[in-house]
Amino acid sequence: MADCGFDPKIGKKFWIQLSQVYKSLYLKILWYKVSLPEGWTSEKFYVSIITIAMRQKIIVGNWKMHGSCSFARSLMQDLLQGGSESVSAEMVVCPPAVYLQYVSEMIADSNLISLGAQNASEHPSGAYTGEISASMLKELGCRYVITGHSERRQYYGEADAEVARKSLAVSNQGMVPIACVGETLTERQNHQARAVVERQLDAVLNLFPADRLEKFAVAYEPVWAIGTGQVATPDQAQEVHEWIRLRLSEKNSESAQRCPILYGGSVNGANAASILAKSDIDGCLIGGASLKSDEFLKIYNEAGWRKFI
Ligand code: PGA
Repeated sequence: MADCGFDPKIGKKFWIQLSQVYKSLYLKILWYKVSLPEGWTSEKFYVSIITIAMRQKIIVGNWKMHGSCSFARSLMQDLLQGGSESVSAEMVVCPPAVYLQYVSEMIADSNLISLGAQNASEHPSGAYTGEISASMLKELGCRYVITGHSERRQYYGEADAEVARKSLAVSNQGMVPIACVGETLTERQNHQARAVVERQLDAVLNLFPADRLEKFAVAYEPVWAIGTGQVATPDQAQEVHEWIRLRLSEKNSESAQRCPILYGGSVNGANAASILAKSDIDGCLIGGASLKSDEFLKIYNEAGWRKFI
């Protein structure tokens, strides 16, 4: 075994994850068999099942307002050295805006890491002191922009309509908005989670052109799980991701199958595998754990396991 480089422990972990994913896909197949969406042929259904299995995972690090130039350099050096192009997941880093140029230059020669921003103005240009436009972010090499993070909603009063306009502004520049949705603890306790998530998502979808949905991502981040160490269970997260996928498919059923839906809220190296094993969870948006290279790389490697199906 050792001669051919096969690590039996890794092998076991891989097969456990594979069986979990197949189990949830199999249950999905059974469910769809009894209730195929209207107008769906079984051929279309099986193509979408294969699409589900093939969706590339995306692991996004949201550094928030942390770090310094030297911190950014050392974290990026670690990620560039520790990441592997053979892992199928996409790694994305979202540093504070002032470090975007610097990080962009560091990753210029690498296919491993994509760049994202944490926020963008809804306006294309103009007298908006302190704001950064989507075209400026695009010029710096950003591929993704987080929109409507709960901290922006909570501390800067961003309402659904503004989040929708920001998502559109990002998309108008050819970048992928990662639109964040998620309920507070009180809303969950009052059984309003679904209504809140759908309201936040609908605001964006109502403005977003249906034919651009392939370049759109959603992050489900229950507010009660962000930075609290209290992660949603994989089943709780999967349930909400299914609601989101259903809503997306009402807008564009084919693109909805390809649209990445990420989970965020206290994800770390220890809990990532069980979250990523769920069939509608296409990656993670990670705050605290993205500031530690070993932890972030661990999550990234967990996501890569699913490349084999
Ligand atoms: P956390 O943050 O991983 O520290 O909970 C997630 C986020 O806010 O995107």
